Formats: sequence, C-alpha cells, structure tokens
Amino acid sequence: MTTTTQPTGPLRPEGPAKLTGHAQYAADVPAPGALAAALVGASVPTGRVAALHTAAAEKAPGVAAVLTAADLPRLRPQSSPPLGHAALPMQDDAVRYEGDPIAIVLAATWEQAVHAANLVTAEYADVTEPLMFGQAEPVPPDSGHVLWPTDHRTGDVEAGLAAAETVVSARYTTSDRHHNPIEPSSTLAEWDGDRLTVHSSVQTLTLTQQTLAGLFGLDPEQVRVVCPYVGGGFGCKGYVWPNTTLAAAAAKAVGRPVRLTSTRAQMFTLNGHQPATRQEITLGATANGRLTAVRHHAVNATARGEGHFCEGAPVAAGWLYASPAIQTRIRVQQVDRPNPTAMRSPAEGLGLFALESAMDELACASGIDPVELRLCNEPEVDPTTGKPFSSRTLADCLREGARRFGWERRTPEPGSMRDGNDLVGWGVAAVTRETNRAASTVRMRAHADGRFVVETGIQEIGTGTPAVIQAVAGEVLGIAPARVGIEHGDTAQPPGSPAIGSMSAMSLGSAVHIAATELGDKLTAAGGAAGLRTAGIDYLEVEGRWDPDEDAARWKDHSVNAYGAVFAEVRVDPDLGLVRMGRCTAVYGAGRVLSPLTARSQAIGGIVWGWGQAVLEKSVLEPGRGRFLSKNLAGYIVPVNADIGDIDITFLDDDRHASPIGAKGIGELSAIGVGAAITNAVHHATGRRIRDLPIRIHDLL
Ligand code: MOS
Repeated sequence: MTTTTQPTGPLRPEGPAKLTGHAQYAADVPAPGALAAALVGASVPTGRVAALHTAAAEKAPGVAAVLTAADLPRLRPQSSPPLGHAALPMQDDAVRYEGDPIAIVLAATWEQAVHAANLVTAEYADVTEPLMFGQAEPVPPDSGHVLWPTDHRTGDVEAGLAAAETVVSARYTTSDRHHNPIEPSSTLAEWDGDRLTVHSSVQTLTLTQQTLAGLFGLDPEQVRVVCPYVGGGFGCKGYVWPNTTLAAAAAKAVGRPVRLTSTRAQMFTLNGHQPATRQEITLGATANGRLTAVRHHAVNATARGEGHFCEGAPVAAGWLYASPAIQTRIRVQQVDRPNPTAMRSPAEGLGLFALESAMDELACASGIDPVELRLCNEPEVDPTTGKPFSSRTLADCLREGARRFGWERRTPEPGSMRDGNDLVGWGVAAVTRETNRAASTVRMRAHADGRFVVETGIQEIGTGTPAVIQAVAGEVLGIAPARVGIEHGDTAQPPGSPAIGSMSAMSLGSAVHIAATELGDKLTAAGGAAGLRTAGIDYLEVEGRWDPDEDAARWKDHSVNAYGAVFAEVRVDPDLGLVRMGRCTAVYGAGRVLSPLTARSQAIGGIVWGWGQAVLEKSVLEPGRGRFLSKNLAGYIVPVNADIGDIDITFLDDDRHASPIGAKGIGELSAIGVGAAITNAVHHATGRRIRDLPIRIHDLL
C-alpha cells in the first residue's frame, strides 16, 4: 500500500512505548497472587442451564475453583447503555444467547484456566429453535440502546414521489460484522475491602467506573478504573460487558485478585457486534435531478431480552441532501443472538451504503453524472431542522476529490473502461457524520525545569490521542509538542473524553486548549520557568475543562456535521469474479486537523475498514444453533495490506462552531461511504448492481 499527502507535524509520543513493549495493556499488568480466569459459555442459544458438570475441570492442573452463578455476588440492574447488555451475566440459570457465560474457571495460569474451561459440560432445558433475523416482526425500538430518532418526517413523501420524473426504489442489506480488535478484552480486578480496582481494556474509564459502582452498590469514588492503552476497540469496548463485570464479581467471590481474559472466539459473542440491516430507499427526482422525495427505512437485528439495540442507519438522510420531503424510520427485530452494539461507524456507516448506492442508481436512471447529481442537491440549511450548517463542505469535497481523482476522464457507460482483461470501474459516494462531543477535563502543569505535563483520564486506543494533546498544547504555548508529557489512563485523573463516537480529539483538545491558554498566561506572569526557579516554585498547575453543554451557544443552533467525498477505482476480473481496489481518493471536511499524522492514519484506516465492509466481512449465524459459525480470523476475513491500493487523503476546512479549536470528528467519518463508492464502481465496471454487502464472488460471475 502506498499513500500520498505526506503528513507534517509531530510524531506519536506513545509510539516508542508500544514498539518496545513498555506500554502496558490490561493483560500485561503484573499481578502477583492473582488467579487467571476463563469463561465457559453456553453452547445453546436459548433455554436454561439444568446441570453443570465441573468435576473434570476442578481436577485439571492448576485449577483453584470453578464458579457458577450461585457462587457470584448478586449484581444490581443498571440501565443499558452504559451496560452493553440489559440482562446481567451469571445471575440466574437463563441462557440468553449462545456463548452466554455459565461458569468461570480460576487457575494459576490463563492456559490452565482455558483448558479446564473446555472440560466443563452442561445440560440444558427449555431450549427452543432460535429466531433468526428475518423471522421476527419488525417493531419500534422502545428501550435500551436507542441513540437515534426512530421516526422522522419532513414534508409529504407521497406527494414528492407523485411529482417526480424519476423514481428509484430498492432494498439494500448489510451483514453481521465483528469488531476484532487485536487485544481481546481483559480485566484484572482486585478488591480491598469495599474498594474495587480494575485494570480493564475499555473505551471509557468514567462510564466503566460508574457502571461498576452501580452493579456492586458502591459509590463511584470506591471504584478505580485503570486503562492507559487499549489495543483497539471500534466500539466493542465502549460499554461495560461481561468481561469486566465477571472479573470483578469473581474476585469478590474468591477474595483474591482475578484476571479474566477473553479468548478470540469469545470476542465474537461477549462484546457486541454490528447487526445486519435491511434498508429500503425510495428517491424521487425531477428530470434535472433535483430530489422531490427521500424515504429511508431500516431494520436491524437485536437480541431478545437484551434491550433494543437500534442502528441509526437512516439518520444522515435527514441532512445530506435538499428535498422537500424526507422520511426516515428505524425498526428492530428481536431475535436470539448476543446483543449487538455500535461498531465503527454506526448509523451513517450502514445508512450511507444504502443512500449513496441509491443516489448512484438515480444518477444512472436520470443520465446525470453522479458528482453533478449530488452537487445539484446541496441544501441551503439543514432540511430537517431548518438550522444553518456550522460549515458545509460536501460540494468542496466532491469537487476537490473529482479533481484529484481525475473524474473527468471517466466514461459513463458501464464496462467501457478496461485495462487488459480487467474491467475498470470508478465510483463515488458522499460522506457525512453527525458531530459528537463530551465534557473533558485535563490538569496541566508547567514545571520549573521547563517540562510541561498534561494529566487526564483517557486511554490511547490506537488513534494517537497523545499526539493530539501535544499538538494542541504545543501550539498554544509556542513550544515543541514533544516537550509536553502526558499522563493518562486512570479514573484518579481528571475525566477526559471517552474514546467513542469520534469525539476524543475535539473534546479533549478543547480542554487542553483552555488549560494551556491559562497556564501560558500564568507562566508568563511568573516570568517563565526561570521565574519559577527564582521564586523557588516547583510548578504551576491549572485545570482546563470543556463542557459542551456550557458552550452550547457555540454549536446548538447549527447543524454540525463532518463531510467528505470518496472516489474508488476497482478492477474486476470477469473470469474469476474478483474485485480488487485500484485506488481511492478521499477528501474530508472534518474541521481543523489537529495532528496531520493521526488524522491521515485514521482516514487510511477508515477506508481499509470500508473495504472490509464492501468485499470481505460477513458473519454467518447458523440456523438451528443460533451461533456465529466462524469465531476466528480465518473464517471471518478482514482486509490486509495486500488488499489495499493507493489511498490519497486530503482534509479541508475549519469549523469554529463545532468546538473551541475548530475541530470535528474524524475517526468514524472515513469508514463511511466507502462501501457505496466501491459497489458503485463495481456497477460502473460490470453493469452489476450489488445491493447486498459484502460483494461475493458469485455476484460477479
Ligand atoms: Mo465507536 S463505534 O463509538 O468506538
């Protein structure tokens, strides 16, 4: 893989620690006296545990105990989210999904615990045929994980369609997908009386602290969560899942520290997944391509008995294009499976596959260039709310992307571009994502020896947040970013942004900006570091907090979204049905770029992620057994470097309404639209319209 647009600016301060193994992940933390734990999961998808046979496991080498539901403390119900699953694990004999924990084996080493866990067998009762996606009634989500508006209507869609010259209507589907972070979830839990400390691989320290406190009936101050580094999450560590809960419960039960590390296979069932969706889109347009109606309905699978995890697939239809009539609707099917959760990029990442495919179908049906079609539907204000856009860069992204990609050389007829035996296709998709934000606090010190330190309770999840902190602080203080030290990863520190929803850089960066500004003023007044030394002062300290609610005047009267345009070239081997990425050009308007290196890395990662969605990632639930058939990276395939062609990334703009530092979210933006750009390119190459992701070889033969 090669990429253009080389970054300038600071390097990533956490890099050396990671490369040399000094960065400590939850499974690395030394824990003398701790027992290693492994979970036993139910092998059926419904019913209850009638009998558990643990004798063989108890006799296995190194085993200290086998815990069942009866051995664990009773947990107090919590709302979900932040609990990833509404039903608490191992509190009764119910089996709610295949893999639902039914026993915990504690041993001297993790290998011994995993081995013994395999020796535990169970008898089940009341097992029923599991309901699969497609077999349950779609119902309005009414509780739990409903993070998006489920029913919205602006104008009269029927009238808009009646007035249309061209109507396209189609159904699109996306598959069940898994997060697959490199680091499986791991939690080291230790009790000291009624105080609990957990080292756990989580995407949010504060939510984990509050949730554990609630589960065990403690005050949040009695719970300390430590997590400086996370080996990837993509959403599966965003809420609190059984790995964290059961480690703490087991440690309490046995009165010893316990470290529970999930297996790779358990990551497919115990941390959520992205649920399959079915989406229906109908677009109406005038002869010159102006939309008269947009209807986007979506249904996703969710877990019976675990709340209503709801995907906001249609939300972007609310602001992406001008239309006098827009209707969106979300329904869920409650089926027998582990509870789904948000996965990079929820909502728009699923919805824009459908909407941007439909726009391509409309372009073909109307004989209008796909870039032109999008440009002629630019709204003046948010068509759903009537609010002005804080900044609206879609048209600039489309034009700049088309220029960089060389779009004017495209011949519109499908199959008209060839390179040897390969059919070449060029596709485009618009990209947008709503901007999220979270209150963030940092403590910052200027030391008399010239060092600067930022302290905040955030974790480095792979996105390079420390580089962002350094860049913002360095700019405000007028110093080299590398002079700013960062201490992070502990609820004992001021609470930073959770590492979810593409909000960390902007939210935390704003807090750093506020702190660094105040610290710089104080330091100047004190005569700089030399002044501190003369006065015998070791350091100056300030706290900076950005609270989006207190700063609501900045953003709440605007429609604040990030935008982009992604252009993909595919090469299709018509004899083998293989699709390969030729190249990808993406231009984003995501507000001010705080760290060019990390922003570009995020964008590359997002496009690679989108390639996985488009051509590789599909998890199959086995009918009758209700289990994911393949729970490893051999049977569930993700992209590797050899899959990826040239990627060209550009960022535009600045958005002072989004945050004090002009930044918006980047991380999830770049995984959006890629699927549609690729299937649109495949249509251009072959004339085949793929409406179901991922593209399969037989779709093209
Ligand atoms: Mo993301 S799905 O908010 O980690």
